[in-house]
Amino acid sequence: MNGKLSWAPINAEPARVLDVGTGTGIWACDYAEAHPTTEVIGTDLSLIQTNHSPPNCRFVREDAEEEWVHDQPFDYIHARMMYVESRARAIYREIGADQVAADAESEEMIKNNPFSLREYMRRVIQGAANLGRDINVAPKLKDWFVEAGFVDVTVHQILGPLNDWSHDPVDHQIGSFITQDVIEVVESASKFYKAYGMNDDEISQFVAGCCRHVRSTKCRSYIPW
Ligand SMILES: C[S@@+](CC[C@H](N)C(=O)[O-])C[C@H]1O[C@@H](n2cnc3c(N)ncnc32)[C@H](O)[C@@H]1O
Repeated sequence: MNGKLSWAPINAEPARVLDVGTGTGIWACDYAEAHPTTEVIGTDLSLIQTNHSPPNCRFVREDAEEEWVHDQPFDYIHARMMYVESRARAIYREIGADQVAADAESEEMIKNNPFSLREYMRRVIQGAANLGRDINVAPKLKDWFVEAGFVDVTVHQILGPLNDWSHDPVDHQIGSFITQDVIEVVESASKFYKAYGMNDDEISQFVAGCCRHVRSTKCRSYIPW
């Protein structure tokens, strides 16, 4: 995002910002540092975040699927790599203004990538469906936000290099990060491969092939991010 923490059209400095499913809390800390007068709260199922956060940033254990408990509304709610429909409604209920950022990947967006990666998406989506879960949510995000009541919902699709094939130094570094992330995701989807019908041997072979293709700089492909 060219160094930007957000693309939401926030005019004034927001007083309160929520980062849902904050993970390590890195976005919340960065945002708090860049906006020292803003109170930033990061929520997650587990409190693994740093103890060295800026003074205007704190973390709270909260399940985004349950009722959200906050004493005041938020001016801006950020959710990165969080893919559940009910969150659009919850964000609409909680927010004090109409600003939201959301991002996701989808089977559709990944179609220019190596076959094994497309196959990964297909199997994981089908495996999740076999478990009664729809994880192919990117194409639906916009509609969910509109149905929840938001207006002027904008979708930005960002493309990043799948690996470090690019000679451009920034793309090269981004590509290395993306490879690492994609490989972690591919390696950690056993539950969905099993639900798709694969056994342990098939999973190991499939994951190894996928990771090899993701690392191969012959690919020279981009992935939506
Ligand atoms: C893919 S990570 C993204 C972390 C962070 N948003 C980022 O972009 O760096 C997803 C995070 O969502 C959290 N999470 C998953 N389900 C959640 C839920 N129901 N309520 C709150 N957090 C949840 C996980 O614990 C994890 O930290």
